[in-house]
Amino acid sequence: MKIIGTGSAIPKKIVTNDMLSEFLDTSDAWIYPRTGIKHRHVISDEKLEDLAASAAEKALENAGMKAEDLDFIICSNVVNEYVTPSLSCIIQGAIGATCPCLDINCACAGFIYALDIAESFYKAGRVKNVLIVCAEEPTRMTSWKDRNVCVLFGDGAGAAVLTEGDNIKGIKLSAASATDKLYQIRTLEPTPYITKEEESISLQMKGQDVFKFAVKASTGDIKYLLDKLGMAAGDVDHYLLHQANIRIIRSIKDFLEQPDEKFPTNVETHGNSSSASCPILLDECNRNGIIKRGETIALSAFGAGFISGAVIMEW
Ligand code: UT7
Repeated sequence: MKIIGTGSAIPKKIVTNDMLSEFLDTSDAWIYPRTGIKHRHVISDEKLEDLAASAAEKALENAGMKAEDLDFIICSNVVNEYVTPSLSCIIQGAIGATCPCLDINCACAGFIYALDIAESFYKAGRVKNVLIVCAEEPTRMTSWKDRNVCVLFGDGAGAAVLTEGDNIKGIKLSAASATDKLYQIRTLEPTPYITKEEESISLQMKGQDVFKFAVKASTGDIKYLLDKLGMAAGDVDHYLLHQANIRIIRSIKDFLEQPDEKFPTNVETHGNSSSASCPILLDECNRNGIIKRGETIALSAFGAGFISGAVIMEW
């Protein structure tokens, strides 16, 4: 397939590091050098499904495609207010599409997993036009009393429209179960029969373990694809990496021995928006002309699971 349109929608509320230090034992002096984050956008009066639909509509407009021409909608989401129906079904109704819908939860690597599903459906002859929407509100998963995690995240939605083409050169997906490193637990409705103990636990993270995994997984996935495609790191014009931490991005850059200019970032202004991170960055780079048609780009993401994935494509 090939991506022919991108879109994104971001909550209006901006929370700076200084604002966090008003109620948390933290500071810009700690957060910025350790993460690269200056501020993040946080959901206040918006609903995630509205941001998701808005990102989808912008991507369709950018692609010059009507919602009724879509054959499939894939939505990547970890959590939102609806347990059911799926977010993809809500988006479908909001944008006026009629095609089948599917939600996936692949944490921060959701965009790459969604691309692989779209490409597989296309290769099976099942679809021609696919909408991918990644919509996330990780700020509703963290405890805002826990400085270890809440400072890292921001909310938003990113979308891409794909149609027939052979621009996707290779995709690598990986998973390695490590449920104690990055997780959140919520209790379900009680029943008269539940005897086990249950408790809700806000997002917990062993930061240094996740950091090491992120660098290892991302460099491994990218290297695998480069080798498989007979390419060198220098053959890729831009690397669009999951925006979790500028130090992770720099470590991957150093491994690949490529210049700064090849690694556009927005972690400074968005923080980590889980699976929405890659398509939001892709949309920004598309609209401001950082990536140009015909270029080779690589995307790579990693997150809870542990799950990771990378793709190399012609833009
Ligand atoms: O999508 C994937 C999701 N997650 C990630 O990619 C995160 C990966 N990990 C990281 O980005 C980094 O590990 C962090 C940014 C989370 C933490 O950076 P670090 O350099 O690994 O710091 P640390 O965890 O070793 O903590 C150092 C100190 C600790 O204090 P002590 O024990 O040395 O006294 C923390 O309690 O920094 C303290 N600390 C903070 N201090 C001020 C932790 N968070 C904060 C904070 N403000 N927000």
